Amino acid sequence: MRHWLSMMDYDPAELAGLVALARRIKRDAAVGATMSAGHPTAALRGKILGMVFFNPSLRTRASFEAAMLRFGGHAICLNVGGDTWNLEHRDGVVMNGDKAEHVREAAPVLSRYCDALAVRTFAGLKDAAEDAADALIRAFARHATVPLINMESAMEHPCQGLADWMTIDERFGSTRGRRLTLTWAPQAKAVPMAVPHSAALAAAAAGMEVTIAHPPGYELNQAILDKARSWCAAAGANLSVTHDQASACAAADVVYVKSWGSTAFYGKPAEQTESFRRHADWMVDVRHLRRPQAILMHCLPVRRNVVISDAGLDDPRCVVVDQAENRLWTQAAVLSRLLSES
Ligand code: CP
Repeated sequence: MRHWLSMMDYDPAELAGLVALARRIKRDAAVGATMSAGHPTAALRGKILGMVFFNPSLRTRASFEAAMLRFGGHAICLNVGGDTWNLEHRDGVVMNGDKAEHVREAAPVLSRYCDALAVRTFAGLKDAAEDAADALIRAFARHATVPLINMESAMEHPCQGLADWMTIDERFGSTRGRRLTLTWAPQAKAVPMAVPHSAALAAAAAGMEVTIAHPPGYELNQAILDKARSWCAAAGANLSVTHDQASACAAADVVYVKSWGSTAFYGKPAEQTESFRRHADWMVDVRHLRRPQAILMHCLPVRRNVVISDAGLDDPRCVVVDQAENRLWTQAAVLSRLLSES
């Protein structure tokens, strides 16, 4: 039994296979050819996905539910602290606070009801080492007895990374050798590094030339950068990091925009907000799309005129809605693979 916790759980060839499968499912669905017994989506038929959210979602929840329903399965959605118990994940604690249930029971119980589980956890944004350990989703993975999917954790959003790869592949016909610039952008409050980590890993696995632009002090996780760099090198490409946003975007085929917080400001929200304000000119606009065929990407949700200008988001080269749609097809591919293997 395999889980899907990280892009790094799979090698680039397997990830490319998932993107190819997602494109096939999308094509077949367009002509109504997905319901035969031999089709990869038959693995979802009659199956139940249990989704556990520790944080809000629009796309992730709706796209997983849509994938399960569309291909004959069903999804159960639980919102921790809302319509289900607050969950503890640390071992050996005295549970006399607000957490009424432990992951040690919750994960195996849900595994008895469901054929696969999916969890969204997010980063605490207080302690970089704690976030890097991704302890909550890893506790679920240890105690689940069915495949577990990462719907965004402290460190990664692999479902988003795969949908982004598929979107670039659709637009350009292939990804290899294309130039992707992942640019930092300001925000209203601190947000995690999960999406930029998965975007960098996906682009590297796809054989793209990757440039990451951010202000000094906004470095991404070193282990993720090392893995992305090694995947780039294996494909004959490079990964570089710069503080010069304009130059990084000038030659880009793909301008991928995402805000993230600095670990230097973890636990210091006022200083983080002030830093975002100081770097307000990093907001992305159409002027950053210098090549005529360049596309503009963001995972959504996006704060207009803080992260990306109205003109940028409303430009025909902006593909954010395609990215969101492709969550459905790539997740159908991941579910098909995990459910047919388990
Ligand atoms: N991109 C993404 O995961 O969107 P949601 O937070 O709305 O699920």
